[in-house]
Amino acid sequence: MINKLKSKDLLGTKDLSPEEILLILNTAESMKEISSRDIKKVPALRGKTIINLFYESSTRTRTSFEIAGKRLSADVVNISVSTSSVAKGETLRDTAKNLEAMNPDAVVIRHSSSGASEYIAKILRCPVINAGDGAHEHPTQALLDLFTIREKKKELKGLKVSIIGDIAHSRVARSNIYAMNKMGMDVTVSGPSTLIPVDIEKIGVKVVNDVVKAIEGADVIIMLRIQLERQEKGLFPSIREYSRLFGLNTEKLKNAKEDVIIMHPGPMNRGVEISADVADGQYSLILDQVTNGVAVRMAVLHLLTGGA
Ligand code: CP
Repeated sequence: MINKLKSKDLLGTKDLSPEEILLILNTAESMKEISSRDIKKVPALRGKTIINLFYESSTRTRTSFEIAGKRLSADVVNISVSTSSVAKGETLRDTAKNLEAMNPDAVVIRHSSSGASEYIAKILRCPVINAGDGAHEHPTQALLDLFTIREKKKELKGLKVSIIGDIAHSRVARSNIYAMNKMGMDVTVSGPSTLIPVDIEKIGVKVVNDVVKAIEGADVIIMLRIQLERQEKGLFPSIREYSRLFGLNTEKLKNAKEDVIIMHPGPMNRGVEISADVADGQYSLILDQVTNGVAVRMAVLHLLTGGA
């Protein structure tokens, strides 16, 4: 069993080995216990400085990275791009170089451009963690999804997963597909054909456009939001039509396995890709995903910044 990650950065799940994924999940298991204590703090990263640099909005990822760092006793600095010198035209490169001059131990970045995290990882000496870059990757989301699935189902290998919705613009789908393939899971994607990339089969998934068929036999269903901020108009007739054909509701769920689990990375559009009763219902693990996001991000920060 390995005890460290090979790269200085976490930019995607595509480059992680199955052993590295297991290392992160197993480390996250120990980290989760810390969050259930009265005093939710250990000194592992005392004296380390973590910068959260978010060029796109975020609730779950930014907050959980901040909480994760603080629970490990790191000093966490959040940079809000709208009130930073980015608003005055400073480039990503200059921003990265100026942050580097303050000697951080890790930079967590979210950016609307695919490849932004890789770009600054080449500039910075410290670890860079991709918190979502365009439609490319969102590795910690996929890792927390795997953690949540393993917690519920005990084993990952052989599970059937259906990822439903806007696959084309989803960094969550891409990171999950890479990671799930490595862990021996069987992934199907479903949704309107306009929102499924051509040739996606080449990265190891099946395509089933009929959502009802994609639900049948799935152990795990992951619903995705339509990423309106990343797509041109006219890719589906209307929100109402989308919801009728591709949204998950109690009626469609009648075709699912008895022990199916339902997940969503958030933010949800209730009544569009998922009905409120399903989102809040007995099969939903959506809030467990959020809880586990803290543990997984604690594990990633710990492994990359070399905590004791
Ligand atoms: N799942 C996710 O990335 O949520 P946020 O955009 O709120 O961080």
